[in-house]
Amino acid sequence: MKRTHYCGDLRREHGGREVVLCGWVHVRRDHGGLIFVDLRDRSGRVQVVFDPAAGAEIMESAHRLRAEFVVQVSGDVSLRPQGTENPGLPTGEIEVRARMLLVLNEASTPPFAVEDESDAAEAVRLRYRYLDLRRPIVQRVFFDRHRITRTIRNFLEGRGFIDVETPVLTKSTPEGARDYLVPSRVNPGAFYALPQSPQLFKQILMVAGLDRYYQIVRCFRDEDLRADRQPEFTQVDLEMSFVDRDDVMAVTEGMLAEVFREIKGAAPPTPYPRLSYRDAMERFGSDKPDTRFGLELVDLAAVAREAEFKVFRQALESGGRVKGLNAKGCGSFSRKEIDDLTEEAKTFGAKGLAWMKTTQGGLESAIAKFFTPGQQAEIRRLMSAEPGDLLLFVADSEAVVHEALGRLRLRIGEARRLIPADRTDLLWVVDFPLLEWDGEEKRYVAMHHPFTAPMDEDLPLLESDPLKVRAKAYDIVMNGTEIGGGSVRIHREDVQEKMFGLLGIGAEEAREKFGFLLEALRFGAPPHGGIALGLDRLTMLVTGASSIRDVIPFPKTQKGVCPLTQAPSPVSPAQLRELRIRVVD
Ligand code: AMO
Ligand code: AMP
Repeated sequence: MKRTHYCGDLRREHGGREVVLCGWVHVRRDHGGLIFVDLRDRSGRVQVVFDPAAGAEIMESAHRLRAEFVVQVSGDVSLRPQGTENPGLPTGEIEVRARMLLVLNEASTPPFAVEDESDAAEAVRLRYRYLDLRRPIVQRVFFDRHRITRTIRNFLEGRGFIDVETPVLTKSTPEGARDYLVPSRVNPGAFYALPQSPQLFKQILMVAGLDRYYQIVRCFRDEDLRADRQPEFTQVDLEMSFVDRDDVMAVTEGMLAEVFREIKGAAPPTPYPRLSYRDAMERFGSDKPDTRFGLELVDLAAVAREAEFKVFRQALESGGRVKGLNAKGCGSFSRKEIDDLTEEAKTFGAKGLAWMKTTQGGLESAIAKFFTPGQQAEIRRLMSAEPGDLLLFVADSEAVVHEALGRLRLRIGEARRLIPADRTDLLWVVDFPLLEWDGEEKRYVAMHHPFTAPMDEDLPLLESDPLKVRAKAYDIVMNGTEIGGGSVRIHREDVQEKMFGLLGIGAEEAREKFGFLLEALRFGAPPHGGIALGLDRLTMLVTGASSIRDVIPFPKTQKGVCPLTQAPSPVSPAQLRELRIRVVD
């Protein structure tokens, strides 16, 4: 006997039909001689009724059913008796009167109930992920994820992109994280790197004349994990020839519009606003600003320069910044709450957090005495302060000021519930600097990656003032999370060599690591550019999932462990010997 229907698809119009269902026992209830079983499969649930009239044998089998037993049932769909309908269930108007029951497999008692509502700890859920995934609320995300990738494939294929696979066992591609290495048995002492992205291969596919490439591709990065990071994750990776940044941005916006329409029924308007890196940092203290709420940072250099407060003046004199944040309505914060904010600011490098409470009368603050009445009025004006507000200040290097105030802004936005849950803000951050100065390593590092092209008009600065050079790079930000990034690439060998030089990568090292790219650029490389979206992050945000782990079927924990398989795990001495590897501590 073959299955005829999915459980959750049965409706009133199937009444009178004989059906065959397969699935898992959700619950069994014994009721006045009748046995009721809710049968579940991926489509939903339906009530199956076992009636003594069907015979003693079937009743005996039904009596033995327990949660998560796997069964096949045949029976007749009938309308539920009046008054027993369940309006909370799509199949609630009908039930299936069983004629035959086949137990296909039994099940141990599950460690947690397979219900949408579950208080099982994440560690337990992930260890028994196959049970967790039986919960409809958990499973639904993967149907959405499937619809997202299908929509993306359809869209890109309609625009002439072809899906090309690139190697997983490859050479290191710098994207700023550590590589996962794979030892080569046949080349003792040599290692493959798992790709942090297909960056170099997609560029080489452009040199090869493929013109429009895409891939939904796994990437690997050995970095510290956070709520929106996994060591292996998926990119929607694409590259196009003979384009500028507007072309790549338009394709991306078109693709995202389709995804939103598919999942949400409507899409945010395009084109998305563009914010320069400079403005993003100045206003929000972040290059991935959450623009769904205000609380923008305010520059206070003009007042701080004149005032008596040493902390502020010294910061300015040593080339730093003094900026503030008006925590609207937080004037009632206790000393303890302010101390907590101070501690938080310190974790981001700030040496302290100065504050003022605005009252009807003026300012209440230990540092008010360092500011003349005129300066106090100016601070209030600049920060649009009203009675009941809490003004927070950080004086430090620009990087610390932005990091600390940017984080406090988010924290206060969340705590004060200033972020409208139903709002979706998508925006581009553009005009990034090409390079950053790494104070620890005392050298320039690429802000995106070393293959990003400088702006044409900034090329002359490459030698004279490298930090002033802007890149043809763009990031896409959704509700304060970076969901993608890309750039127009360097397609000339001489510019690429100059870039390596700036990054302190000598000719020798460049040849060894990227010789194949430099060589390819010599053989007619077309101008090209592209982008990669983080599919996991996008899915998380579009489906409203609270963690990246919820949109990955078998995710890893913060420590990089797979709770289901316990990977990573030790290997046998024989395996190590074969690879010529010795583990030292
Ligand atoms: P980038 O490094 O910005 O660009 O990566 C692109 C996007 O991938 C997502 N992402 C991650 N998602 C989950 N876990 C991680 N550990 C993780 N790391 C990155 C982010 C990010 O925006 N080759 C370039 C793209 C290009 O220039 O075309 C690249 O990889 O959403
Ligand atoms: P102090 O003069 O060091 O006692 O600091 C006076 C106030 O200024 C305290 O509330 C400190 O937390 C704060 N403060 C100290 N350093 C900074 C700084 N770099 N930026 C902002 N506030 C600071």
